[in-house]
Amino acid sequence: MTQLQIPSKLVLKTTPKADWQGTLTLLPVPAPQMPNPDKPGQQVGDILAGPNQVIVSVGPAEKLRTANIRKAGISAAAWLIKHGVTAIGLSVSALDHLKIDDALEAFCEGLSLGAFDFNLYKSKADDSIINVFILTEEGDASSAEKIMRVDTLVSGVNLAREWSHEPPNVINPITLAERAQALAAKTGLRYTVFDQDILKQMGAGAILSVGLGSKTPSQMILLEHAGKDKSGDSPPVVVIGKAITFDTGGYSLKNKQGIVGMKFDKCGGMAVLGIMQVVAALNLPVRVIGIVAAAENMISSNAYRPNDIITSLSGKTIEIISTDAEGRMVLSDALTYASTELKPRAIIDLATLTGGVVTALGQVRAGLMSNNNDLADELISAGERCDELLWRLPLDEEYFELIKGSDSDLKNSAGKPLASAIVGGTFLKQFVLNDIPWAHIDIAGMATVESGLRGNSATGYGVRLLIDYLQNLS
Ligand code: BES
Ligand code: ZN
Ligand code: ZN
Repeated sequence: MTQLQIPSKLVLKTTPKADWQGTLTLLPVPAPQMPNPDKPGQQVGDILAGPNQVIVSVGPAEKLRTANIRKAGISAAAWLIKHGVTAIGLSVSALDHLKIDDALEAFCEGLSLGAFDFNLYKSKADDSIINVFILTEEGDASSAEKIMRVDTLVSGVNLAREWSHEPPNVINPITLAERAQALAAKTGLRYTVFDQDILKQMGAGAILSVGLGSKTPSQMILLEHAGKDKSGDSPPVVVIGKAITFDTGGYSLKNKQGIVGMKFDKCGGMAVLGIMQVVAALNLPVRVIGIVAAAENMISSNAYRPNDIITSLSGKTIEIISTDAEGRMVLSDALTYASTELKPRAIIDLATLTGGVVTALGQVRAGLMSNNNDLADELISAGERCDELLWRLPLDEEYFELIKGSDSDLKNSAGKPLASAIVGGTFLKQFVLNDIPWAHIDIAGMATVESGLRGNSATGYGVRLLIDYLQNLS
């Protein structure tokens, strides 16, 4: 592979205002109190374009917050692409004017996120580039560094989005491991893979079972960032992602509507790869280990089936009720491995685990479940700061009744539509050993959005959230 990531369509370049020769400027402004023909409308992202200026609304002044500024940036990017703009100036002072912390970062994040375009398989791709000149005042020592951080962060989010979009005939567990290895080589992360043979030796029956029907067997992929303490024995934060490269449902087959889009069942794992790229690029002081639990859930005479009883890495046995509840199978072995072998200070998993969380929380918040109030609160706060919102769901012991096994220790599904997101979390909790603080984030509703342009589109949800959390760890 020659290149890991599509080059960004929008390039942010800091330039002293005095040196800039351009004529077109981008101006984010609060919405006017009253309709005003010289200002854009009330809606965040409304645009009013003149010959020299593209004015974008950041919404009403009294509701001004970074989330709206980011949204305005996304909308501005769409406008610039649509109108074929190739160069535009954006003055730092215009953003300072908004008097909101991090306004420059949020707006520029929006611009770069909004310009994401998965065009690898378009025979007539539009390769034009938009240069956004960030115009700095004399003596401005911080904007260039802020823009670099934005680039680093967005590049991780867009890596997660791009790889999520890759089709299942390109990304399977094996080719995914190869990509992760290339990413490690580029970023200086340590790469390890547990392939089918190693997983067998380990006794990781749960992750293996999901991949039995596929010609590309399950892989557990690990990436490690050493952090400040190079000795390699400070307790890491472990971030685990579900990467089902395609989820047919297996013998509990999805229907023809439900199966389309199931390439996006790897979004949790792709977020972990994006997170690790950013962790390495920012050289965060904390030790972080990313684990991608990869498998393809297919049908064949080798596939696992309902009523199979599987022995997981933990030794606990699991009766398969639904082969479509495969995410918890791959994650369970990763959780056991992390909690018994890695001595983590915390484990956080990201997974498109259940349709139930989409019913409960829609596309506004991801579902958070945790065995630890401090960890849950830290993640909720991180979500509020970066606008990747969470809502905590309970994990009362009583829910375990729903997945207690009859011929096995556990069942992988309740077999009825009761508290499905919580049942998923309750199942995972059984594999977190030694009372390690753990949080499960069900991103099934947040990993993709409907975009008019291309149907489902990956968001990279979880990358900004976890980076914010990791940067604010004490
Ligand atoms: N990958 C799906 C969950 C999903 C559904 C993600 C829709 C994104 C959009 C998951 O593997 C699944 O099928 N879960 C089942 C679990 C059930 C069988 C216990 C579900 O939610 O129906
Ligand atoms: Zn499934
Ligand atoms: Zn799935």
